[in-house]
Amino acid sequence: MKLFVYHTPELTPTDKVPDCAIAIDVLRATTTIATALNAGAEAVQAFSDLEKLMRVSEEWPVEKRLRAGERGGAKVSGCDLGNSPLDCTPERVKGRRLFISTTNGTRALQCVQASPVVLAAALVNRAAAVQYLLANSPETVWLVGSGWQGAYSLEDTVCAGAIAHSLLQQTTNSVDELAGNDEVIAAIALYSQWQDNLLEMFRQASHGQRLLLMDGHDDLNYCAQTDVLEVLPIQKEPGVLVRN
Ligand code: MLT
Repeated sequence: MKLFVYHTPELTPTDKVPDCAIAIDVLRATTTIATALNAGAEAVQAFSDLEKLMRVSEEWPVEKRLRAGERGGAKVSGCDLGNSPLDCTPERVKGRRLFISTTNGTRALQCVQASPVVLAAALVNRAAAVQYLLANSPETVWLVGSGWQGAYSLEDTVCAGAIAHSLLQQTTNSVDELAGNDEVIAAIALYSQWQDNLLEMFRQASHGQRLLLMDGHDDLNYCAQTDVLEVLPIQKEPGVLVRN
């Protein structure tokens, strides 16, 4: 298995696909997607384009759908939810399809959607992603961070590092056997430095600070937890994720 980390959708190659792509948006889209599926959502359908989300979800019965829209960290008016994982309670999402569009996370999912296997990972379900990789041994794995409008995000890279770090611990592979690019080695170093203090790292990260200004303390606390959900979102058709 060779891992490749790409920090943003913009840095992700467009001329090939890996055997397995893992989209990461710790703050907060992939945390929200995992939480919604864990709470019993029928599926999560991701859109980079809000108008398309509205059009497609219009075809679903109102009682079977939820629209989640976020831009710049804030809820989009006309949607039922923003992008807080804490809103994805079983009472709200059970049996419904979550139609979601966010600033960067859904773009990361879209940029790898042609890959034969597409997963969504965050810190909350890191172990589930690692278990999938250990059980299926895909030859090439891309860990694609969402970043923020083309720029690097600490929290996505630390999650990529958490996945790589756990793979190293659970196999006999050395770093240079596992790492397909330098970004993997940097991501492992970042996780090694912050693994016991992820919440503090999120408080220093630019998007963490943005969310704190919007009263996002509880979201940061939730998203900083590691290995608390067993659910692994997997793409069953382009843009549609279900529980693995
Ligand atoms: C994104 O897609 O950029 C994020 O998930 C933004 C957010 O925190 O809602």
